[in-house]
Amino acid sequence: MTLTTDRLILRQWRDQDRPAFAALNADPVVMEYFPRIRTRQESDAVLEILKDHIDEYGFGFWALELRDSGENIGFTGLQHVNFKAAFCPALEIGWRLAQHHWGKGYASEAARASLDYGFDVLDQDRIVSFAVEANTRSRRVMERIGMVHQPEFDFNHPKVEPGSPLVRHAFYAIDRAGG
Ligand SMILES: CC(C)(COP(=O)(O)OP(=O)(O)OC[C@H]1O[C@@H](n2cnc3c(N)ncnc32)[C@H](O)[C@@H]1OP(=O)(O)O)[C@@H](O)C(=O)NCCC(=O)NCCS
Repeated sequence: MTLTTDRLILRQWRDQDRPAFAALNADPVVMEYFPRIRTRQESDAVLEILKDHIDEYGFGFWALELRDSGENIGFTGLQHVNFKAAFCPALEIGWRLAQHHWGKGYASEAARASLDYGFDVLDQDRIVSFAVEANTRSRRVMERIGMVHQPEFDFNHPKVEPGSPLVRHAFYAIDRAGG
């Protein structure tokens, strides 16, 4: 199963994606709002987890490929929230792109296709997203695709060390009707 947009393909991961994914996860700017960058070994292990989610459910954080060059530029997609929170169970939408491909609208383009898949194919009533409060780039993607900040559900991420400046997360959601 692949999703295709004007400029992008969202697809299952391949072993050949490992170097690009490792470079993404080793870039301190890309990983600014995550507790730490990842080693090649850790990145390969994460790739397997993303791949397994797609194998199991038919969707996930898909590898993002440029249609015109075949380059893997990161990921975008939907996955089951993998920790406990007041808004669970839920499907979250997420993205991570190579820095030299920011500012071209690729994340929003892929996110719109992912939302359509979530509503039309997976028959979801609501899709959620969240980001470190200071991650304005990611929050702008959420707003660009019509998600709405619901501050009453902002939360401390259980996988981030309490007291870390990265712990507080802004919560966004969009429902099938569009907001
Ligand atoms: C979050 C992230 C994916 C956003 O990437 P992005 O390229 O800024 O997002 P978009 O694809 O929506 O692109 C929008 C930008 O492209 C510009 N743009 C250029 N051509 C465009 C087009 N054809 N269509 C839409 N936007 C276009 C927009 O003006 C906008 O620029 P601006 O933010 O300076 O106003 C990226 O910063 C990233 O990977 N960050 C690190 C990982 C991360 O934090 N992930 C999220 C964790 S919650």
